[in-house]
This record gives sequence, C-alpha cells and structure tokens, in this order.
Amino acid sequence: MDDRTSVLLNLKQLIELDQAAGIEFILREPAAVNATSAPTPVPAKAPVTARAQVAPAPIISAPKPAVPVTPTLSTATTANDTLASIAQEIADCKACRLCDGRRHTVPGEGLSTPILLFVGEGPDADEDAQGRPFVGAAGQLLDKMITAMGLSRDQVFLTNIIKCRTPGNRTPEIEEINACLPFLKRQIAVLKPSVICALGNTPLRALTGNDKAGITRMRGQQLSYNGITMIPTFDPSFLLRNPDAKKPCWEDLQTVLKVMGREPPKRG
Ligand code: URA
Repeated sequence: MDDRTSVLLNLKQLIELDQAAGIEFILREPAAVNATSAPTPVPAKAPVTARAQVAPAPIISAPKPAVPVTPTLSTATTANDTLASIAQEIADCKACRLCDGRRHTVPGEGLSTPILLFVGEGPDADEDAQGRPFVGAAGQLLDKMITAMGLSRDQVFLTNIIKCRTPGNRTPEIEEINACLPFLKRQIAVLKPSVICALGNTPLRALTGNDKAGITRMRGQQLSYNGITMIPTFDPSFLLRNPDAKKPCWEDLQTVLKVMGREPPKRG
C-alpha cells in the first residue's frame, strides 16, 4: 500500500468514527466557503429604545428531531423578504383549500419594527371581508387590551397563524397550519419582535411545535420561539365567551409589559 492510499484509508476511518459519534460532514465548494464567511450586511433599522430594556428570555430548546415532524413549505427567509413581498405571496397562495372560500387574505398589519407581536389563530368573517386582522368583535376587545397596556395598534404588529378564513370559523386543520406557518416564520424573521404574545391554543401549539400544549395550563409562562420571548394568553374570541378569563389574561399582558420593560399606565 503506498503512502497516499494509507492516508486515504485513515481519513475514511476517522470520518466513519466521527459519523458514528453523530458528527456531520458538509463538503463545501471554495466559493461557498467564501460566501458564508463574508460578513452579512445588517439592514438598517429605526432605533427602538425599549428593545434594549427587554430582559433576556429563558430559552427552552427542544431536542432537534432527526427527521422533520411535519412537511411544510420552505421556511427559508431570503434577503429579499419584506412584509409587502410576503403579503403578495400570501395573496397569491393556493397551498391549501382555504384559498377556495376566501374573500381576502389577511397577512397582518402594524408597525414594521415592533417590540411586540400578537399572533392569533386566523381571520373570522370581518377580517376576511376587510383583509385586515382583528377588526371584528374580538379585535375590538384586543384593541381595548392594547390600550390598557399603554400601547396602540400601530405600535405593535398583529397577525395570525393562518391567513385565510376557515369555513364557519372552525379551528384550522394541521395541513392548513403547516401550509401557512412558513409565512408567519418569514414575517417574524423580518419583524424581529422582542416579545410574541400567542393568543390561544392554535398559535401556542403551532409556535412551540407541541400539539399537546394547552393555553389554560401554559398561559402567562415565558417560553421561547427561536430565542424570542413568547408569552401565551387567551384568545380574545374566547374572552368574549368567557369574561371570567379577562382577569388572568390581563395578568399575562402585565407579564408581557414587564418583559418589555414597561408598566401599564396608572388608572385614575
Ligand atoms: N381572531 C383571531 O384569532 N384573529 C383575527 O384576526 C380575528 C379574530
């Protein structure tokens, strides 16, 4: 055996040992190495003072599954993603059957550099009619809650897990959530909020990837979505049917404010 063959055999054995220990090898073309090592330009963003006051969130990291649990569309963000370009893709989307019954898609609206992002389940009839999130009765209650926090609608961003109305406002099915979730993930990557408030079971389950998560048990907890503090609370539609839940919901929103480094305005 010549020297070259012996070196190659040793290398092969080393790679097999590392692979057995779970170490992955990625072969890159020299051009690709250069591309990834070049500094990525950071897009300019309006300074948001309160961002700096946000307390670090406890990171709850789930072990990485060996295979994707649910097949979805690509969640890859591109450097060209903007809220407007994502909204256009949503308007053109035919990835699930909800496109057949919709009047308008509802991509979301609000400040493009929000500290706080509210994520609901999906549009109801009023939202479907106007193409805007949280404009019906539940939305009016959410507006009141946002005002009570000392904020306004245009200081936050409002969106949903799914961007089209379901027939009869039924809970979205897993295939519909999986088809739509990549849009929200790309919106979050563009918005870069410091805090996400998940409104109800559907956003809680979709963003934790845990279909056993329950809002009654987990509301008010400081969870993490990709390093962003996520605090779940009740869906305003649920609050309309269960007014007793408003008090615990307000406690959760106070936790949101605390994480944002703010206090609710004094009542008087
Ligand atoms: N409920 C939601 O979850 N989202 C809306 O946009 C309206 C009501």
